[in-house]
Amino acid sequence: MEKATQPKIIIAIDGHSSCGKSTVAKQIAQELGYIYIDSGAMYRAVTLFALRNKLAADEQVDEQALIDRLGEIKIDFRLSPENSRNETYLNGENIEEEIRQLPVSQHVSPVATIGQVREAMVALQQEMGKNKGIVMDGRDIGTVVFPEAELKIFMTARPEVRAQRRYDELTAKGQLVSFDEILANVIERDRIDSSREISPLKQADDALILDNSDITREEQLDWVMQQIQQMISA
Ligand code: CDP
Repeated sequence: MEKATQPKIIIAIDGHSSCGKSTVAKQIAQELGYIYIDSGAMYRAVTLFALRNKLAADEQVDEQALIDRLGEIKIDFRLSPENSRNETYLNGENIEEEIRQLPVSQHVSPVATIGQVREAMVALQQEMGKNKGIVMDGRDIGTVVFPEAELKIFMTARPEVRAQRRYDELTAKGQLVSFDEILANVIERDRIDSSREISPLKQADDALILDNSDITREEQLDWVMQQIQQMISA
């Protein structure tokens, strides 16, 4: 009952790679009955398209060729009946697993620097949020996609902590990965994401900072839910 009477808001979660944005965003969406959108998955889907079509290799991207083929890319999210997860689809194919693997991670930041790619993704993201009641995570959600979002959170953690979490996640799935390679990828993506010309990763002036290096997931969720309740009842 309570959920229906509260006004729906937009919650924007931005921050560094692998600091658990999607974990907290999914938890919030579940608590509030909101839609959760992983904007990074959309850039990852474009990257997978580029890799499959030989428009990207060796951490280089053929920008013009990818721009010319953007019209062939259709991305959507569908709720999995098996695990209630919102899974990413590229042209009708479920690519949720494949976009989390290292080849995509190694090419996604250069793809995400391309202006036309960003324009297309931002338009899609704004369309998804037009009825509010949405939690979206990414790099530019509070600054570019929804600058009017009622609640903005900027998440971070120390690079070694983030690399360890990503390492644990991938090895739990049975992938053979090296910690050093993951740490290098985390640091390199931070560098590209923060220094790119278009929509760089930066904290919105009105964002609340959450550094979760030394707190548990439960403590983190409690803190975030408190901020939301204060916001909604203000
Ligand atoms: O989950 P993780 O932090 O590893 O990254 P992600 O959210 O899946 O995003 C992958 C990459 O997409 C980031 O490193 C950014 O380069 C890019 N991205 C972006 O530019 N803008 C967004 N709103 C979301 C992701």
